[in-house]
Amino acid sequence: MKAETTPRKFYELDLEERLQEVRRLSGLSPEELHALAGQNGLTAEQADHMIENAVGVYALPLGIARNFLVNGREILVPMAIEEPSVVAGASFMARLARPLGGFRAETTPPEMIGQMQILEVSDPQAARQRLLDARAELLEAAANTDPVLKKYGGGPRDIEVRVLEDTPIGPFLVLHLIYDVRDAMGANAINTTLESLAPLAARITGGRVHLRILSNLADRRLARASAVFRPQDLAFDRFSGEEVRDGIIAAWAFAAADPYRAATHNKGIMNGVDAVVIATGNDWRAIEAGAHAYAARSGRYTSLSTWRRDAEGNLTGSIELPMAVGIIGGATRVHPAARAALKLMGVSSAAELAQIIAAVGLAQNLAALRALATEGIQRGHMSLHARQIAAAAGAEGSLVSRIADQMVKEQNIRAERAAELLKEYNQPESAES
Ligand code: MEV
Repeated sequence: MKAETTPRKFYELDLEERLQEVRRLSGLSPEELHALAGQNGLTAEQADHMIENAVGVYALPLGIARNFLVNGREILVPMAIEEPSVVAGASFMARLARPLGGFRAETTPPEMIGQMQILEVSDPQAARQRLLDARAELLEAAANTDPVLKKYGGGPRDIEVRVLEDTPIGPFLVLHLIYDVRDAMGANAINTTLESLAPLAARITGGRVHLRILSNLADRRLARASAVFRPQDLAFDRFSGEEVRDGIIAAWAFAAADPYRAATHNKGIMNGVDAVVIATGNDWRAIEAGAHAYAARSGRYTSLSTWRRDAEGNLTGSIELPMAVGIIGGATRVHPAARAALKLMGVSSAAELAQIIAAVGLAQNLAALRALATEGIQRGHMSLHARQIAAAAGAEGSLVSRIADQMVKEQNIRAERAAELLKEYNQPESAES
């Protein structure tokens, strides 16, 4: 290990030095650090208790995004992702947000929606009214199904009832149970409550309760983040800060107006969002489903973020999306790396985690737009892509960078070339380690 760790940048350290730096900054124990790094992470035995037919575990790269200041708090952000440039992009944009205060973020209450589909109701409008009249009774019945959430102040908050008239099977009723799930993701609490409530709903309506399941369009459980960037910090290469700012706004306008572009724009946001969701053991499919459904809430799929110029000429960005993440229960509790990831961020509530994730999504979006609006994304992607190819060819240690740099220089990033270079550099006179 090299002695002078402080003056070097985090990305310049080797793997072990980075871990020690994370330890110094976070106070994680050696065991937690190792869990975070996957060294004593999820075992096949633990996996066997999590899913059916388990044969082992699947690993992803885990990186730490730096420079995040969210609501005034410094945060080391764990990101589990296989795609190059994502961790670097988030870290860089988080740094650019710092001169004007970093990210401000907030959440709405952690209210999830559980849905009940009620079929075979003779007079749906009258049955709807009976359900609404029985609101207190339904909420009381729902209140006792999850004693743990109740103890922490969670529980049912409201019911809504709609008649869906125009469906392929004719009209039916949909009951929404609004449920405050506190620090849980909430799927279990909601689904259990809906199932226990079904007989009462059937009695009140005279119908047959069919589906009882939470909605992933968690549009009452939103996370928002915003940040302001000075144009001079955006300047890049031959592009002035103002050009970059205006280029980013034009790129956003494309996504705001066109679903084809919005899908890719939002995918860039989800690069950051999912990486933290996965690192913390949360259900990224739920987050993906919620985000894209929310992006289409007006009837036309659009951007989850907004980029504008403020009166001072700064670039302002904001994002709003459903964020049904938990810090208790499920894999967040079982997975040792997920537990370490939550501790690394020092989050004490699901809301705080949701705020950080929204900030990372916004940073990731800016990284992509800034690259797209200037040099394009390929240059940045290429050097990491080249590293992947070099490593896949069998290069280790400093040979990875050496081979990657050479391939980028030659603009010839191929497995065959990596193998040739590896052979060449592995000759005794050029061996490095
Ligand atoms: C690639 O994973 C993500 C981007 O396509 C996002 C975007 O186009 O905004 C670069």
